Amino acid sequence: MRNRITKAVIPVAGFGTRLLPVTKTQPKEMLPLVDRPAVQYVVEEAVTSGIESILFVTGRGKRAIEDYFDYAVELENELQNKGRERLLEEVRRIVEAVDIFYVRQKRPRGLGDAVLRAQRFVGKESFAVLLADDIVLSPVPCLAQMLEFYAQEPAIYLAAMPVPREEVSQWGIIKGKEVAPSLYLVEDLVEKPAVEEAPSNLAIVGRYLLSPSIFEAISKVSPGKGGEIQLTDALKSLLSRERIYAYCFSGKHFGVGDKISYLKANIAFALRREEFAVPLREFLQELLEEGGKP
Ligand code: UTP
Repeated sequence: MRNRITKAVIPVAGFGTRLLPVTKTQPKEMLPLVDRPAVQYVVEEAVTSGIESILFVTGRGKRAIEDYFDYAVELENELQNKGRERLLEEVRRIVEAVDIFYVRQKRPRGLGDAVLRAQRFVGKESFAVLLADDIVLSPVPCLAQMLEFYAQEPAIYLAAMPVPREEVSQWGIIKGKEVAPSLYLVEDLVEKPAVEEAPSNLAIVGRYLLSPSIFEAISKVSPGKGGEIQLTDALKSLLSRERIYAYCFSGKHFGVGDKISYLKANIAFALRREEFAVPLREFLQELLEEGGKP
């Protein structure tokens, strides 16, 4: 039988400070890209890749995520009564697509700590972690590309991509040896290094295939960069015992965790939609001709 991963964890308990003030009352994962919240694209990627159950690691102020992935009885009745079948199907589709579980991270102590909350859900299986901050558009979903490698050789896999040198200090960076096209055996990992200390420009993107050994590793790491329990530090401590690969996926990456990336992603996603492409292109053209001012 092929090696399979069927469980995914999506941590959504962070404060989203880079997007304040809107994230004061609105989870950043619920901010829309055109007409769908960012987290929906990630859930859809997981489902299309064959994931059967998803655990959201949530926190205070994240109720909107639970409601979004649940039936909305009054709304659905209203759509039904008005014969708005297509919309009804659209709002129901994502609710029915997958089994969703929730656990609370009582305080956002870092991504590593959020992943540790998934220990009971995961048990002794390998599992995927997806971050709603990172959205990848590609004919074969990024997670499915990684799962294909896992099927051939079970190990830890991290999605990676080259970033401009001057941006390395915003990312977790790997040092690795290319062992197959786009596949690197990781030798070292550094969270947000200074430009002069970065071992490469290969950044870790928010898709991981992890083994359950990560839980013990996380519970042993001390708070790292920013006083947070870093997943990167736990991965680093596993390097001597487990094979960790970084895979440069094919596809286009959009970050949605900071303001400028979020704005760019919204425009790009809208331009990809048939119904908006022409009017939006015309509007942008007009705006640019007027010197960018409305
Ligand atoms: P980020 O570091 O991008 O999220 O974590 P953040 O802390 O919400 O954002 P900023 O840096 O303050 O703007 C990546 C993902 O991990 C989750 C976040 O919700 C986000 O989806 N996360 C982060 C947790 O679930 N718990 C944490 O303690 C930290």
